[in-house]
Amino acid sequence: MDDELTRIQQSLKTQLSAISSLKDLDALEIDILGRKGSVNLLFSKLKDEQPEQVREYGEKINSLKNHILQEISLKKHQLLESSEKSSWVDTTLPGNAPKPGSLHIVTQTIEDIRDIFSRLGFIHMSYPEVEWEYYAFDALNMPKSHPARDDFETFFVETPEHPTYGKMLLTPHTSSGQVREMLRVKTPPIRMTNISRTYRPNWDATHVPMFHQFEGLCIDKGINISHLKGAIEYFVQEFFGKECKIRLRPYDFLFTEPSFEVDIYTGSKNIGRAGWLELGGAGMVHPNVLKEGNIDSSIYTGWAFGFGIERIAMMRGGITIPDMRIMYSGDVRFLTQF
Ligand code: FA5
Repeated sequence: MDDELTRIQQSLKTQLSAISSLKDLDALEIDILGRKGSVNLLFSKLKDEQPEQVREYGEKINSLKNHILQEISLKKHQLLESSEKSSWVDTTLPGNAPKPGSLHIVTQTIEDIRDIFSRLGFIHMSYPEVEWEYYAFDALNMPKSHPARDDFETFFVETPEHPTYGKMLLTPHTSSGQVREMLRVKTPPIRMTNISRTYRPNWDATHVPMFHQFEGLCIDKGINISHLKGAIEYFVQEFFGKECKIRLRPYDFLFTEPSFEVDIYTGSKNIGRAGWLELGGAGMVHPNVLKEGNIDSSIYTGWAFGFGIERIAMMRGGITIPDMRIMYSGDVRFLTQF
């Protein structure tokens, strides 16, 4: 019996190492552990042993059987791992969900501005960022040599000058869309917003060389300053909250008369900083500008404003962004907060 036990144990090792498929392993398992397998054969031989040895051999056969089961199970595991089935995926495990992204704070602000003005019946237009000097300055009552042009420090593009439209430039403000819109519509009413990238060579905590502005332009019969004030008030209260107030300070843009700088009151705890803050410029469209747009200033009047989008994003409820440049740093720790 002992010899037989040893022989089965030793041959198991050789047989297992020769097996390379689950099918062969199943066959071997039946050969050894099956109803007519070698282990059961040993059990049946117990009756021929001396009665005092039956118990000892019985235990030995059982322990061999457990050993064989263990070895076969180990081999099965190895075969499964190395077979094609190793690429098996447990679809019941929780997946790795991709982190949701978010829109840039400036894009979110632009979408909100569009929404608010569309509720007032304004359409949204896009006018060129690479623009002619004519639409950015001349058409806006800013003669070539006028020092006011210095306020809009400008990136010029090195191209031949156009005989009518002059030099090509990166538009320093969205007001360059004003006369383009008048020429497009031909006969008022005009109610448009023009949101665009704008460019000036500035770089500090409240200025970046590429920034965004949004322009509002409204032209119709009987339009006056109270309409301008009403529209700006509606916008700031929708955007910043009902407690937000505005004030108009006299200013001197050449393309509006009278002209104002618009400040908002940010005393509310909703807004990051306290006090009055400048939002941008506004005014009643100058008759010379209406003339460039072929609009009769004895019939029609209009207002316009131009606000900086990064500035209003910096002031928005609950946010205090101390330095505008971080918006364009590409730092995800900043971007993912919005
Ligand atoms: C203008 O650009 C006028 N076109 C606004 C206007 C439109 C007046 C229509 C009258 C009628 P100003 O240069 O002040 O105005 O710029 C308006 C706003 O743009 C500023 O208040 C500021 O919020 C923003 N801005 C200007 N330069 C920069 C810059 N470098 N970086 C970020 N924001 C800027």
